[in-house]
Amino acid sequence: MLCGLAACSTDAGVTARRSEAGVDPTDSQPVPTQPTTPQTAPIDDPNRDGVGDVLFPELGNPGIDVTHYGVAIAYDPATDVIDGAVTIDLELTEDRDAITLDAQGPEVTEVVVNGTTTTFLMDDPELRIDLPDKGRSGDSLQVVVRYGLHPYPQPSAIGMNNGWYNSPGGSYVLNEPDGARTWLPCNDHPSDKAAYTFTITVPAGLTAVANGALGDHRTEGDHEVWVWEETQPMATYLIQVLTGDYEVVEGTGPHGLELLSVVLRSDLAAMQPALDTMSPQIEFFEQFFGPYPFDRYGIAMTDSFGGLAMETQGRSLFSRDDFGFGVQQMLLSHELAHQWFGDAVTPARWQDIWLNEAFATYGHMMWLEHIGEQTVGAAAAEALMFRSFGATGTPGAAEMFGYNSYEGGAVVLHALRLQIGDDAFFTLLQRWVAENNGASRTTQDFIALAEDVAGERLSAFFDEWLFAGRTPTQFPR
Ligand code: TRP
Ligand code: ZN
Repeated sequence: MLCGLAACSTDAGVTARRSEAGVDPTDSQPVPTQPTTPQTAPIDDPNRDGVGDVLFPELGNPGIDVTHYGVAIAYDPATDVIDGAVTIDLELTEDRDAITLDAQGPEVTEVVVNGTTTTFLMDDPELRIDLPDKGRSGDSLQVVVRYGLHPYPQPSAIGMNNGWYNSPGGSYVLNEPDGARTWLPCNDHPSDKAAYTFTITVPAGLTAVANGALGDHRTEGDHEVWVWEETQPMATYLIQVLTGDYEVVEGTGPHGLELLSVVLRSDLAAMQPALDTMSPQIEFFEQFFGPYPFDRYGIAMTDSFGGLAMETQGRSLFSRDDFGFGVQQMLLSHELAHQWFGDAVTPARWQDIWLNEAFATYGHMMWLEHIGEQTVGAAAAEALMFRSFGATGTPGAAEMFGYNSYEGGAVVLHALRLQIGDDAFFTLLQRWVAENNGASRTTQDFIALAEDVAGERLSAFFDEWLFAGRTPTQFPR
């Protein structure tokens, strides 16, 4: 499903998308006022390839709403080659005779639309596809893209690489914010969430892992095929794909929640303490954020370099090298908190990244207080002191994963909590997730809900704390 940007900026679009997200459009919730949508070029402009994301103008593709990805890849870590085919079920949201997908690296060999082989142009980072028949808004299309590549992590405007990584024992992906398109032709923007089926073929003896439930596992000659199903709406940047010598560790969490983790076979004993933190942390956060938003949770411990932690949906990704060094309580609680903030409710535009990072940081601060490390008040006061110039609400691409999104953003939330009080603050967080799970939302949507819950105008508050280059130096009292 798709939300938030140019493609849904009409009232009708917003209503339709809200109902897809499981929110009854006739309920009493006000339809959030749309932010001033960045101007995009007219539809007939061949350069109109993106959905108007100010930070990543190339990302996303106008006129399409993906409902399901069938990702079928064969991968051998020894040769580091992907042989892929992706089957994309989508709906047109505009009349179009051609569409684009994001693809930066994949070498496309064939495109089939509704069973008909069609012409395409690989115009990196766009894959331009001619529709065999003129498409009308509302039409359902099935687009199959066959491709291959030798994947490498690619530089991103955030100042770090992202994409597909070959690791000592296999591989992993780290897609945030624009790495999915480097190994998978897709609609690579967080405003379009979809369901997924992953069918991953690896040499016999290796495990292949992706988001969701293990649907099937079979041997085919000297290969193994692993099928994973993610049925809950997911953004491309939250995809998890791992290959390696993994053991699948199943368990049961609070109120019967399914737990499914993957740990390198050689690390099973060493990772037990990390596995044991899941239930108490889920129980703790549920008190404040509401019910855990997905069908299952888990952790995936890869053989990557250290310093890697990512809130891949339903199963967070970590590096084995970061465990045993004292930061694991922070990392584990941070990525778990993201399941509510970022994964269940996803930013509609990358400039809204504080909706992810500030909230996950506030979550880990709450957990660290809970285990007796540092109070939230002390952590927030320290963060306020160290805040640098720049507004949390309007980062540049290079600042998206910087201090003012994380600790500096937690400052904004702490100030909001002091402004509206604990009851309203935690009601707000719970309603934010309960009412928007499965959807993509903007900062303006959050502000509108905050005003609704608090029963007061908060534009002056957010202007001071979220949008000003320098925040106040004292918290509200
Ligand atoms: N979202 C990650 C977090 O939990 C941070 C992150 C984003 C990241 N992109 C990355 C980490 C790329 C490593 C590499 O805070
Ligand atoms: Zn984070």
